Amino acid sequence: MPRDPLIALRPWESPEVTSWGRLPMSAVDRRDRALCLDGQWRFQLLPSPRHEPGPGWSWAGLPGSWALHVAEDPPRYTNVRMPWPEFPPEVPAANPTGVYEREIDIPADWTGRRIVLQVGAAESVLLVHVDGQPVGISKDSHLAAEFELTGLVRPGSPATVRLTVVKWSDASHIEDQDQWWLGGITRSVLLYATDPLYLADVTVRTRCDGELRVDCRVRSAEATGALPGGWYVSGELDGLGLVQDTEFDRVSKEDERVSDFLGEVRLRTVVPEVRTWTAETPELYGLTVRLHRADGTVADTSHHRIGFREVEIRGRDLLVNGERVYIRGVNRHDFHPLTGRTVSYEEMRADLVTLKRFGFNAIRTSHYPGDPSLYDLADELGFYVVDEANIESHDHAHEIADDPRYLNAFVDRVSRMALRDKNHPSVIIWSLGNESDYGAHHDAAAGWLRRHDPTRPIQYEGAAKLDWAATDDASDIACPMYAPIEDCVAHALSGEQTRPLIQCEYSHAMGNSNGTLADMWAAIEATPGLQGGFIWEFWDHGILQRVNDGRPAGRGGAGLYESGVTAPGHRWAYGGDFGETIHDGAFIADGVVFPDRTPKPVMYEHREIASPVRLSVEGEGSWRVLRVHNKQHFRDLSWLAAEWEFAAADGGSWTVPAQLPHVPPGGSAVVDRPEVPGGAGEIWLTLRVTTAADGSWAPRGTEVCSPQVRWYEADEGEPMVGSEGELGHVPAPETDEDGLLLHPLLAAPPTLSLWRAPTDNDVLGGMAGRWRELGLERPERETVSVERKDATVRVRSRWLTGAGAVEHEQTFTALVDGRILVEETAVLPEELTDVARVGTVFETADGFDRLAWYGQGPWESYPDRAAGAPVGHHAAAVDELFTPYLRPQESGGRHGVRHFTLSGDDHVLAVRLDRPRQVSVTRHRAEELAATAHHDELEPRPGCVVHIDAAHRGLGTASCGPDTSPSYLIPPGVHRWAWTLRAL
Ligand code: GAL
Ligand code: MG
Repeated sequence: MPRDPLIALRPWESPEVTSWGRLPMSAVDRRDRALCLDGQWRFQLLPSPRHEPGPGWSWAGLPGSWALHVAEDPPRYTNVRMPWPEFPPEVPAANPTGVYEREIDIPADWTGRRIVLQVGAAESVLLVHVDGQPVGISKDSHLAAEFELTGLVRPGSPATVRLTVVKWSDASHIEDQDQWWLGGITRSVLLYATDPLYLADVTVRTRCDGELRVDCRVRSAEATGALPGGWYVSGELDGLGLVQDTEFDRVSKEDERVSDFLGEVRLRTVVPEVRTWTAETPELYGLTVRLHRADGTVADTSHHRIGFREVEIRGRDLLVNGERVYIRGVNRHDFHPLTGRTVSYEEMRADLVTLKRFGFNAIRTSHYPGDPSLYDLADELGFYVVDEANIESHDHAHEIADDPRYLNAFVDRVSRMALRDKNHPSVIIWSLGNESDYGAHHDAAAGWLRRHDPTRPIQYEGAAKLDWAATDDASDIACPMYAPIEDCVAHALSGEQTRPLIQCEYSHAMGNSNGTLADMWAAIEATPGLQGGFIWEFWDHGILQRVNDGRPAGRGGAGLYESGVTAPGHRWAYGGDFGETIHDGAFIADGVVFPDRTPKPVMYEHREIASPVRLSVEGEGSWRVLRVHNKQHFRDLSWLAAEWEFAAADGGSWTVPAQLPHVPPGGSAVVDRPEVPGGAGEIWLTLRVTTAADGSWAPRGTEVCSPQVRWYEADEGEPMVGSEGELGHVPAPETDEDGLLLHPLLAAPPTLSLWRAPTDNDVLGGMAGRWRELGLERPERETVSVERKDATVRVRSRWLTGAGAVEHEQTFTALVDGRILVEETAVLPEELTDVARVGTVFETADGFDRLAWYGQGPWESYPDRAAGAPVGHHAAAVDELFTPYLRPQESGGRHGVRHFTLSGDDHVLAVRLDRPRQVSVTRHRAEELAATAHHDELEPRPGCVVHIDAAHRGLGTASCGPDTSPSYLIPPGVHRWAWTLRAL
């Protein structure tokens, strides 16, 4: 039996032991008065907790995850399954254990004070020793653990602190979240001192009428624990004094609650003309609570930034300050490509600023509480937070949900989260965790919450999923994941709905994804009872990895990536890249931003869907008017500025100043419309909306949204061949004997394409497998006939697939102005349903590097993800058109393209399309993308691969959730398209 009691207890296989010697959690935050112990610690990694540390120490920087710097225990990724076979609460005997040690100087002026060590977060069991003495144990990898060191250390002398972190434990079974397994101490280590008379906890309650109530708990750390006589508490809110609630004192006395060991005081005030807190108007007030000794001197202080707001569920609506708000949320993990789960304050702030700029107003802390700073930032910048407890037992969910040995852990994790975060106005909902089945433990934790904090609703997907309309489970909200939007609408219309429906996860952002997001939001906004949800998820968790030795780049990798692309010799690693045999591959890369936080195209889609300002056209003909809508819940439009932008198909674009009308929240107003020039061709009118002044998340002039309307439609059936392109006596375009077009600027002739490099949705949704079976990647082509007549060559071919032959016809006509007109027809047999695309692919000669197009842009867009890409004249380098999704796949498409020009140093290729079409111009053939596992392995071609699609399948979200809707699928039958090619 080991001598060390902390080891002898084997706390890593004892779920009943959630902690030992750990102080209770509290909302009194002492980070601002603490000594920070971050930095270099002596370190060694033991093969198991039963091993004793040897003499061989190395160094490790804290906070940090050792998997990112120690070769013996690299990162591993699993989603649902545990990375090893042991059944709860057992763990493998090989159990990496990190020992961190350093000397600390205890300040001499801490004599007589209560001394506390705080470890911000440790995965998954923390054992604390000071000068060889056992101090405590803690579990829960995402909440701080505090231990009292008073009496163990001597002020003015050094002490040796040892933090032993055991990686695998009974707790790992309830920390089975879909992310990397790392190990380490991932948040700061602090040391602080208080007076023996101290504020043990402070609970703030506010109301929208300005009422403030502050409940304080006071304790003494003197040997007997008895409070000294005469202490009292005072409070102040931005200069306004709080008064002690004498009614509270009277009731406490009458009910014999007054204790020698626990001091309880209630302070009150009413703030006149209070400015209420919402995510749109994050108004904060500074609260200071002071605990005084009998002589009036201050023994302890607690500072809080508080907000006046109320959350309530009325019927099936979630109300913030009485208003039904939309939840435009995202799921956020702790993640950084160099430091794993350690995210600095500056990075966290930058992330939240990004979310604000792209229209998000809510965060679910999937699937564990965040760093305390995250909530400070959410309060300050304005986010509604679903604070989620660190419980996910996915692999053994059912076994654990009613296993009494785990009861403590559930209640402990939920209650400690709430004790810490209860005073944040941003936190509007508590979540009991994720994917842990539904058992008595959940009801126990919910019961604790309902008593401790009746001011916030509770949600838990695992409870509510059994029956969205139930009224007696642990969830106040029906919060499904990835539910088809039709099911949500049907539920809301059924008359059975009993509670708000807000999806805890929806629109899975893996690879090129998030199809139909705009349609989902149209349904949400049109259906009372639906309020939104949280996109899965914020990041691609790609770890920056050196390709030569397979090691994580770690902190040294700063600067080795840009715009989502890694520097040569590096890549974004996903599951399996560190040699794991059990892993879940690229499923870890499913965020709306790249690992380096570069926004993916879906972010622009979201920004537009979430736009505070919308534009609509009313009336007919010359009676048409423009209406501006304010889609916000609490603000008018005075924080915004705008200008009109015109885009004419053949006339370029130009802007004129705009004046936003005064529109109250939820209202609308007709605006003076700018002078719109008539003429041939279509004209689009865009309202470019920006911030009018510098604000907390955006400097003045930051783009907020660009609502767009079409003012003039294109002339009906605009002919491909205008007057200047008349047919004349010109020789027909050249083809080879198979009818393939020969052209000096084309490296590969235009042929039929039915396939795309499968997206993650195509792969996991089963479409890619079907396409492979049908041989759509490279169907065999047979030439049927090549007929030449005057200026025209008509080529008929047959493409053999596993579901019958596709008849394809191309007519190439030489026009007098030098263009080649290409008219195409493809007839898909009835059995050939749901192909990836029907269109043309060709390759250019080398030397083209710039694309200018009139169509949707500037960013990537697809048929079912095209709401955020306004029509206009756009231009970009060919290399920048491609989106570097971690696992290469179909990418870089632009929707609704009317014409485009590819140019290089010597040549120009100009293409006009018969109708707005899906177009892509990249350096990669689809089959090359499909054959490559990581973006850095792609070899760009010197020429361009150009796709012009008559039809392109929607993206959907089938990697986890619904596929695209039927209207974005490609039907069999006849497809016709035409285009002209001009070479200069
Ligand atoms: C959900 C789960 C998330 C994540 C997602 C798929 O089921 O709650 O943690 O795994 O699916 O990426
Ligand atoms: Mg899971």
